[in-house]
Amino acid sequence: MTNVTDQDRVLIFDTTLRDGEQSPGATMTHNEKLEIAELLDEMGVDIIEAGFPIASEGDFKAVSEIAERSKNSRICGLARANFTDIDRCWEAVKHAGKSRIHTFIGTSPLHRSIPNLTQDEMADKIHETVSHARNLCENVQWSPMDATRTEWDYLCRVIEIAIKAGATTINIPDTVGYTAPVESADLIKRLIETVPGADEVVFATHCHNDLGMATANSLAAVAGGARQIECTINGLGERAGNTALEEVVMALRTRNDIMPWNTGIDTTKIMHISRRVATVSGFNVQFNKAIVGKNAFAHESGIHQDGMLKNRENFEIMRPEDIGLSGTSLPLGKHSGRAALRDKLETLGFEVGDNQLKDIFVRFKDLADRKKEVFDDDLIALMTLDEADDYLQLVSMKVTCGTGGQAESTVELEMDGKDVIATEQGDGPVDASFRAIRAIHPTKAHLQLYQVHAVTEGTDAQATVSVRLEEDGMIATGQSANTDTVVASAKAYIHALNRLIMRREKTGPGADAREISYKDLT
Ligand code: KIV
Ligand code: ZN
Repeated sequence: MTNVTDQDRVLIFDTTLRDGEQSPGATMTHNEKLEIAELLDEMGVDIIEAGFPIASEGDFKAVSEIAERSKNSRICGLARANFTDIDRCWEAVKHAGKSRIHTFIGTSPLHRSIPNLTQDEMADKIHETVSHARNLCENVQWSPMDATRTEWDYLCRVIEIAIKAGATTINIPDTVGYTAPVESADLIKRLIETVPGADEVVFATHCHNDLGMATANSLAAVAGGARQIECTINGLGERAGNTALEEVVMALRTRNDIMPWNTGIDTTKIMHISRRVATVSGFNVQFNKAIVGKNAFAHESGIHQDGMLKNRENFEIMRPEDIGLSGTSLPLGKHSGRAALRDKLETLGFEVGDNQLKDIFVRFKDLADRKKEVFDDDLIALMTLDEADDYLQLVSMKVTCGTGGQAESTVELEMDGKDVIATEQGDGPVDASFRAIRAIHPTKAHLQLYQVHAVTEGTDAQATVSVRLEEDGMIATGQSANTDTVVASAKAYIHALNRLIMRREKTGPGADAREISYKDLT
C-alpha cells in the first residue's frame, strides 16, 4: 500500500461536516463548521471530509477556509463524476497543507440507471474523471456508491479502472446500510485479493447504520483488510446515520487484544466534540448511546453500584477519563470564585480568556443564584448555548396558566433596538409564548421539532430546549437552557428565528437551501 506503511494503523476519515451535515436539519453555520473542523484536527483525525464544494457557495467557502486553517489533518472535499465538480472541489481543498479530492459515482444497477449509462459508458466516465482529479491532486479517493449492491465482476472492473487512473484510496460504501459483518469483511478481503493493483492503494469502509450494524461492519471491514474507516461524531447522518467515530475508535482501543489495529485519535477529546456536534447540529445524543450517551458511564442500579465500589472493572470496560469525562464532578455553588470556575471549565475542555471569563462568571452567578448546585452539565449548557442573539432578544415574559390547559403569555422582546410587547393565549404556556413571539415578529416558519431535556436531576434542574424551524427549505435550529422550561423554550424559539433571519439576510430568499441536495448525489 502506498499511503499506509504501518499495517497496524487504521486511518480515521471523519465526514461529520459532509455526510453528517447533509442530514436534513443538521445544517451548521460557517463558524460552527470551522470550530468542529478545528476540534477534529486537534483530536487527531487523519482526514476531514469538510464538505461538498459544488453544493453551494456556503459549502465552498467552508471547505476553503477549513483547508486554509488545517494543521495536521488532510482536508478532503466531495465531487460527483464530472469535471466541473472536481475543479470546484480542487479550488477549495488546494489551500490545505495536505488535500484530497473524493470523487464518486453510483455503480449498482439501480444507481447506473439514474444517469442511464451502460456499464462501458460508466467505466469510461470513471477513467476520465479519476484521471482528471489525479492531474490536479496527488491524493484522490474514489467511491463506487452503493458498492455493496453492485455486481461483483463489475465492481472489480471499475475499481481496477480507478486504480489505473490514479486513485490512491478506494472507498467501499454501504450506502443503504444493507450489508452484514461477515459480508463486509469478505467483500474487502476478496477485492484486495482479486483486483490488480489493490495492494498499491488504501481500502476504506463507509457504512450507514440502517440495520444498526455500521460499527460492526466497519470493524469487520478492517479485519478484511480495510485501513480507513469513514465515520461521523455521534454517528450523525441521514436516516439512521453513519458509523460513529467514538464507537469504532473505542472498540479498537478497548478490544485491541482481538482487533490489533490502532488509530491516531486522542480519545480524551471525544466527549467535548460529541457535545459540540450535538449542540450545533441540534441532534441530541440518546441517553443510552454507546460511549457518549449520558448514561454510558452511569451505574445506577444498587447491584452495579456495590460492584463498582468493590472493583471498577466489575462493570466498567473503559474509564470515563479515557473519553474526557472527569472522574469526579464536585458541583460549584454561588460562593465559588472565578479561579474555581476557570479550573472547572478547563477540565471540561473549555479554554477561556480573561474577558470571556468575566462574562461567563456573570452568567454563572446568575445561574448559581437560581440553583443551589451547578453541575458539570449545567456549565456545559452555559458554555455551549448561545445567548447573544442579534435581531430579537427576550427582555421579559410573564405567563399565567389555568387548570384547563389554556394559558396566557405576555412577552417583551427587543426587536432591532426597540421594545415591543404582545400578549397571546394558547394551548399551554409554551404555545401561548410562541404565539406572542409570532405576534411581535410574524413568520411563516413551520415548527419541525420541539424537544426538552433536563440537564441534571431535581426540580431546580436546567432544561435544555431545542427548536427546529423550517421556512422555504431553509432550516434553523435554536437551543437554550434555563431553570424555567418556558423561558428556555421561548429563548430557543427566538434563537432559531434569529438564525433564520441571519441566513435570509446573508443569502437572499431561498439561497441557503442547497443548490444541490443530497438526493442529487446520484
Ligand atoms: O453513502 C455513500 O455512498 C456516500 C458516498 C458519497 C461516498 O456518502
Ligand atoms: Zn454516506
